[in-house]
Amino acid sequence: MGSVVLGVTGSVAAFKAVELLRTFTKNGHKVRVIPTESSLEFVGKSTWESLSGHSADTGVFDGAQRIDHVATARDAKLIVIAPATADFLARARAGMANDLLTSTVLAADCPIIAAPAMHPTMWLNPATQENVDVLRKRGWHFVGPTQGVLADGHQGWGRLAETQEIFARATHIMQEGVDVSHDKLAGRKVLVTAGGTREPWDPVRFVGNYSTGRQGCALAQASQMMGAQVTLVSAHVEDALIPSGVTHRRVETAQEMANCVLSEAGDNDIIVMAAAVADYRPVQRDDSKMSKEQTGEYVTLEMERTTDILSELVAARRSGQVIVGFAAHTGSPAEVRNAGVEKARRKQPDLLAVNTVGSGLGFGDVENSIEILDATGESFGNFQGSKLMVSQALMQVAARCLEVSKPEEDL
Ligand code: CTP
Repeated sequence: MGSVVLGVTGSVAAFKAVELLRTFTKNGHKVRVIPTESSLEFVGKSTWESLSGHSADTGVFDGAQRIDHVATARDAKLIVIAPATADFLARARAGMANDLLTSTVLAADCPIIAAPAMHPTMWLNPATQENVDVLRKRGWHFVGPTQGVLADGHQGWGRLAETQEIFARATHIMQEGVDVSHDKLAGRKVLVTAGGTREPWDPVRFVGNYSTGRQGCALAQASQMMGAQVTLVSAHVEDALIPSGVTHRRVETAQEMANCVLSEAGDNDIIVMAAAVADYRPVQRDDSKMSKEQTGEYVTLEMERTTDILSELVAARRSGQVIVGFAAHTGSPAEVRNAGVEKARRKQPDLLAVNTVGSGLGFGDVENSIEILDATGESFGNFQGSKLMVSQALMQVAARCLEVSKPEEDL
């Protein structure tokens, strides 16, 4: 059956590899942990040995007898290095074999996944980026790093990817022998909308919603990971969530979003409407701040419908283009599903991602659960996990639709 080799290198994120090891073992995989010497500063050898049931040596000449790194490499069905430091990536790129992990990697012919974790300045350094490029060309798979607050309080790209995401990628690779999420959208253009629009009724007040834009940003990131050129049109979204490398257009209101999306739509192969666009906006917008003196005890806002961008996109859809909508509903799973099926049939996007919101669910959560429907209401399945994992699933289905809806001249 072969085992999974889990390489752990010297980053403060090493403690997260404990959870990864447990996820592999719980799912029935035999795991052999190979820590580097410096990683033992963060997690000790006995932790790895007791959780994996194997010795966890760091050097080729450790232990009672010489460790056969070639046999370990030959037995491995997959090598996962998590966290992978800048130093480890540099050594691997150079083909060094100065400890048990690099020796095993050098002798292996199974797939290798690296999940980097380091300070953003080290990650963005051209030396690291070049090492990653070279390793990628040699067939290595990379998961993350992701963006967020790091151990030293800094914000940026450098966090170890979530355990579930590394595990999901590893499972894909072991099952299919290929990294299904890689390059499926190479040469394609994807436009994603994210966040909640704000509809002002005076210069300081607006009607808005609870959307954080996390799901839309994760969709942009997933599309990018699959090789697409991505435009992200964001309404209200925290800056830190915007993935680097996307073309970013910031808007405020539903009308601004409509103008931006509809003018750029024609150029894109896939359009994903993940934004929470206001359905209504105040008819009147006052130029000066309303005071209670003027409004009195009650205030009535007259609201009017905004442009339904998704419907306009569907009406203007060109051949070979895939339009994806979202449907957020409250209620029991059956009520949410029925409302989703009805919406798919009525609005006719190529795909509709249906999810439950309300009672603490949906907006702002790190996890999400969606069912993907086609325009007839047929299901492509339910997907649950981190917003990035759910995004990868949705973009894979969208990429498949793109293949079957290729315009004739492309075939
Ligand atoms: N949407 C849009 N333009 C709007 C409102 C919503 O493009 N003015 C998009 C959203 O981005 C999402 C989908 O439409 O992809 C949601 O569909 P919609 O029928 O508007 O859903 P709800 O606003 O939840 O509507 P309803 O109250 O009709 O269920």
